[in-house]
Amino acid sequence: MSGPILVFDSGVGGLSILDEIRRVLPDQSYCYLFDNARLPYGELEEQELIDGCEALITATVAQLGASLVVIACNTASTLVLPVLREALTIPVVGVVPAIKPAALYSQAKHIGLLATPGTIKRSYTHSLIQEFAANCQVELYGSSELVLLAERKASGKQILQGEIAQLLSPIKVSGIDTLVLGCTHFPILKDEIQQYLGGGVLLLDSGKAVAARVSSLIKEESKLNKRQREGYSKEMIALYTLEIGEGLKKSLAEFGFSTYSKAQTG
Ligand code: SIN
Repeated sequence: MSGPILVFDSGVGGLSILDEIRRVLPDQSYCYLFDNARLPYGELEEQELIDGCEALITATVAQLGASLVVIACNTASTLVLPVLREALTIPVVGVVPAIKPAALYSQAKHIGLLATPGTIKRSYTHSLIQEFAANCQVELYGSSELVLLAERKASGKQILQGEIAQLLSPIKVSGIDTLVLGCTHFPILKDEIQQYLGGGVLLLDSGKAVAARVSSLIKEESKLNKRQREGYSKEMIALYTLEIGEGLKKSLAEFGFSTYSKAQTG
């Protein structure tokens, strides 16, 4: 395992996870692969999502010799993890909505899950709620519009507070005290969401938990293969499936990427 860590999402959302991983593992090489040609994933049929992710990720792992894959997308994680773990010989880490900590932290035992329509309807999500939040009243909110707002923000465009208000007004009046950001795009809008909902609602995401899992896997592997990692160069590569605009290229450069290009899709 000596190649880059491959972080995958439909769009810019996985950068919120990559940011947390880089904080704990600053000396690794990273490839950020995003399937913007098929975004938003929350609207795709299950089989199309599974087949598309498997083909794209396995081809990129082979091309780069990646050492570990992070599916930094809640919608994809609900479906593609078993398929990828079967197809690949390297570790595959997924994201799980922070329902367990939300149920623990909520004083009112009244929590919300804000995710994509795909994640909201998945039986995987309902099992998580049953397992970890059976003692809570759980409100479910699905939004692909918020995914597109996060994409716009990452392209350097302005987000109006009125747009956030229009999408989140049902949450504001729901009475919840804890909201799970169950899509990796949403931490990109965390300031705007917090400002609209106010300080009485705690926002939780899974970034730190994923970073801790990746860090422990990489450290375990480095102990086993100490010599393989010597002379290892730090690199930040971004790969996408649909040509991107200048605004997003600028954001990626600010994030630390020096190379960006179209992914090889087959
Ligand atoms: C989307 O493409 O719909 C968002 C993916 C996610 O759930 O993180």
